[in-house]
Amino acid sequence: MTNFEPSDEFVPRRVNFGGNLAPGDVVGRDEEIAKIRGQLERTSVLLTGERRLGKTSVARVIHAEHPRSILLDAEGQTEVGLIDTMIRRLQEGWGGGAASKIRLSWELQAGPLRLAPEDRPRLLDDIVTTALEVGGGSMLIMVDELPWFARDAELREPGSGIRLLATLRRLRQTNLGLRMLLLGSRGFHHAGPAAEDAVNDVFKHRLKPLSEANATELAGSLLTGEEIACTGARKVATTVARAAEGYPYYIQGIVERMRLGPAPEPGFAPADIDRVIAEAIRDPDDPWSMRKYIDRVGVMYGEAAPLAYAVLDALAAAEEKIGLDDLERTLSLSPQLAPVSRTSLVSVARRLESDYYLLADGPGDRFTTGLLRRAWRLHRLGIE
Ligand SMILES: Nc1ncnc2c1ncn2[C@@H]1O[C@H](COP(=O)(O)OP(=O)(O)OP(=O)(O)O)[C@@H](O)[C@H]1O
Ligand SMILES: [Mg+2]
Repeated sequence: MTNFEPSDEFVPRRVNFGGNLAPGDVVGRDEEIAKIRGQLERTSVLLTGERRLGKTSVARVIHAEHPRSILLDAEGQTEVGLIDTMIRRLQEGWGGGAASKIRLSWELQAGPLRLAPEDRPRLLDDIVTTALEVGGGSMLIMVDELPWFARDAELREPGSGIRLLATLRRLRQTNLGLRMLLLGSRGFHHAGPAAEDAVNDVFKHRLKPLSEANATELAGSLLTGEEIACTGARKVATTVARAAEGYPYYIQGIVERMRLGPAPEPGFAPADIDRVIAEAIRDPDDPWSMRKYIDRVGVMYGEAAPLAYAVLDALAAAEEKIGLDDLERTLSLSPQLAPVSRTSLVSVARRLESDYYLLADGPGDRFTTGLLRRAWRLHRLGIE
């Protein structure tokens, strides 16, 4: 990069697109982290928000700075797997004494944990009580991707997902010093209404996109760290921040594409950013997992999938905002969908909102991001 001129305007950072970030590389989240920490002093928190908005990164910062926290990733885990991981996390972290005590009293052997369903809540109780004793009465349990865990567990072993959620709720209510930070990019409704009830005691904090100033700081920091030649670092950084709509994932993704080149001469200008985005969305390797997001509707919505796709297709195609009435009229014309009742339409729209495809916008809905709508238009409707 011969044209790169070092700038001391931004702190240089390397791109880390989709990986685990070191706490110092989590940019622009100080305020939200302070709010979540403040809330955790009072209650447990459910941290929600769109896919890849940075929920796990925020949780990792809170984890790194909380002396008595354990962080569990529930995605793809079984109920027993999650309990087993909890004991191992205690062992590796601050609760080694608690973990050894539990292993001894439950006579837990090395190798995969075996546990009868009725023993699982009791073991969880024991883990929390013992860890609280060792930890001086306070403890923070963080569980990532909990809604999808509950849904998978229910499909595999009906009752087990709800049982775990109910046990976690009971633990929150009976242990004063226990706090939980639960995370999910998909709604609890996938595991049924009982799953939603099981988290009605926690404070819901929805993570927002980065402010323009913070998003520009991240973009500028990555452009500087990667030594990417730009015709005016700040202007290019602002353009990247706006084009990414404040989503740190897309900021990382755009700078990653710029890094891989080819770079225009004498360097990237603001007008080049849209082309970088168009190429990423069109790329058959789907580097931003846009197509996965589109395909996932089929898996997540089952019988309601045709209606969910039709709603999203209609909103992607429309040049202007469409309200529910117009949507109902348009969709009712389709012989595959008819009859479309108002209730089924409202219900699917609410679910698409809880799964962060849509945002309520006045009486209608719109795509959460212009980038998703753009990908939807290209891949589903063939419109550039
Ligand atoms: N504050 C941030 N600063 C810099 N990069 C970030 C930040 N937050 C997220 N990212 C980028 O976005 C990627 C995804 O972040 P993260 O895994 O935290 O999101 P998530 O909301 O947990 O995603 P998912 O919904 O898939 O679980 C990170 O690997 C990183 O590239
Ligand atoms: Mg995550």
